[in-house]
Amino acid sequence: MKILTFGASNTKNSINKALARFTATLVPGGEVEVLDLSDYDLPIFSEDLEKEIGQHPRAKAFFEKIGAADGVIVSFAEHNGSYTAAYKNLFDWASRIDQKVFQGKPTVYLSTSPGPGGAASVLASAKGSAQFFGVDLKAAVSVPSFYDVFDAETGRINEPNALADLTTAAKTLALREAA
Ligand SMILES: Cc1cc2nc3c(=O)[nH]c(=O)nc-3n(C[C@H](O)[C@H](O)[C@H](O)COP(=O)(O)O)c2cc1C
Repeated sequence: MKILTFGASNTKNSINKALARFTATLVPGGEVEVLDLSDYDLPIFSEDLEKEIGQHPRAKAFFEKIGAADGVIVSFAEHNGSYTAAYKNLFDWASRIDQKVFQGKPTVYLSTSPGPGGAASVLASAKGSAQFFGVDLKAAVSVPSFYDVFDAETGRINEPNALADLTTAAKTLALREAA
């Protein structure tokens, strides 16, 4: 099954992208594609610009990537308690193609940050609105203190509790295939 993963951030070395990528490797039988949101850079959404240019090709490309996946793993970076501007902007553009941006795909939401909060605030926000955006939300996990639990050499999370939570979450994407 095709698992699309991305960090909801345009940081080149995004810790959320690393977390999403690692978690995707825990999906049994998963064929993983990692998106980099910096490849989906867009002008700031405005209804006026939309009237001029219509749907933006990069938003379409992002929407189509989700449409082609069997499952999605997204890890949310937190900026001032909320989404990064880069993700929110891309999401706003994509939502004008279809408000159900996630197109009913089985999805795991993650979040992480260097601090003890683990970006839990943005994760709560994303969970709270998932139903409006076509997200078939299977699991949500926040990983605090990323650099304490991530092994940069192997790209793996080794801390047992976080690893157990991520493994359980990843398996929820494979359950559908088996059903
Ligand atoms: C403008 C800005 C605001 C931030 N606000 C928060 C925050 O509210 N909560 C938090 O846990 N970390 C915050 N951080 C730190 C980020 O969690 C950290 O930069 C993290 O690496 C971002 O994820 P990324 O590497 O996937 O982009 C903020 C960072 C920036 C640049």
